[in-house]
Amino acid sequence: MASGSVQLIRPARNVSGSLRLPGDKSISHRYAMLGAIAEGPTRLKNFSTGADCASTLGCLRTLGVAWDRNDDNEIVIRGEGPTLRAPASPLDCGNSGSTMRMLSGILAGQSFSSELLGDTSLSRRPMARIIEPLEQMGAKISSAEGNRPPLRITGGPLAAIHYPMPVASAQVKSSLLFAGLFARGETSVEEPVRTRDHGELALRAFGAELHRQGNQARIAGGQQLRAIEASIPGDISSAAFFLCAAALFPGSNLTITDLLMNPTRARLLDILLAMGARISVAQLEEHHGELVGTVEIEGGTVKGASVAGSDTAALIDEIPVLAAIAPYTSTGVEIRDARELRVKESDRIAAVARNLRTMGARVEELEDGLKIPGGQDLHGAEIDSEGDHRIAMAFAVAALRAREETLIHGAEAAVISYPGFFEALEGVVAR
Ligand code: S3P
Repeated sequence: MASGSVQLIRPARNVSGSLRLPGDKSISHRYAMLGAIAEGPTRLKNFSTGADCASTLGCLRTLGVAWDRNDDNEIVIRGEGPTLRAPASPLDCGNSGSTMRMLSGILAGQSFSSELLGDTSLSRRPMARIIEPLEQMGAKISSAEGNRPPLRITGGPLAAIHYPMPVASAQVKSSLLFAGLFARGETSVEEPVRTRDHGELALRAFGAELHRQGNQARIAGGQQLRAIEASIPGDISSAAFFLCAAALFPGSNLTITDLLMNPTRARLLDILLAMGARISVAQLEEHHGELVGTVEIEGGTVKGASVAGSDTAALIDEIPVLAAIAPYTSTGVEIRDARELRVKESDRIAAVARNLRTMGARVEELEDGLKIPGGQDLHGAEIDSEGDHRIAMAFAVAALRAREETLIHGAEAAVISYPGFFEALEGVVAR
């Protein structure tokens, strides 16, 4: 059982009210990294409050990038162009795979060596997916056994490559496009299925020219980036916990304002709609290429869902919570093509199956997913987050419909993406 803080969750009657969420984690990482290599001050309102994005900011400081946070929770990054300073100490990426993989793309183009390390969970995660293509471009990268962190990157002049990505990964795609800025020629990456496109949109927002055709993105090297001012839309992967919680109860009526609505991230809304939740979207606007809007959801009896193929890639971070509510649906949930979940912050397929069983659910664990029958009643239990933020939050949602109280052990993991999650959840739960 994970040590750390324990959170008590009591059964709820419904989930109602209004919320605005901290800035999207994926966008915050990318804006911070690009702001660091742009010319001039980049001002970012509603920057993610999560520990992962703090890891990115910490690494940037070690690389000589000045930034400060003012009273308004606005981050100002004082970019001085593409050349960073050789770090005097290793770059600590904490729990953040995004920090390690995407920053590697920028470090590959620097004329110094740097070391990137992470916590126990990150030290288990696969890095061959960035090592291979970045080495093809000309960087030298050494790693621990099995291509795991820590990484030692010796950067230098890079050459453009065309890279058909063997795994669908937005982190790898962004890493290679960032490296492409430092390469001679035009770098192109092609993904097997469409993943989130924040890297492409952010590069354009910072003034880079980037071409997209089907599942391919191309970028020419040597482009100078311009600083931006932005307000980062609310994190839709954090919203997922509240949306799934609301969907479970007749009488729920929840509004989430200023929420990221990027189509490569909003697949959960389509799934919840198909399951029978009532959802409306208003006040859609576009900021730096990203769609933002207000979402209202009313809950009720929900049907099950079947998620596979490109849906799985689009929903990758929302699958733990979708699986956690699956027993309460009328027809159950089946998830396939989700092998990637086994190499996230924890093995999320195993962690979901174990914790659902602890609550008394029947679950079939598959190599690449889960089959969870519907129409099940769960009891309160002692949940183990396994140190994984999304597992801690997903089971807080499952606990709302359990018969008795639930204890979430290792609840502090939520700070990775959403400090204040449990307080925000309490704020919208009616009992
Ligand atoms: C992310 C992409 C996804 C996701 C992660 C954040 C990103 O990972 O699971 O939480 O910001 O690009 P992969 O790109 O490895 O699938």
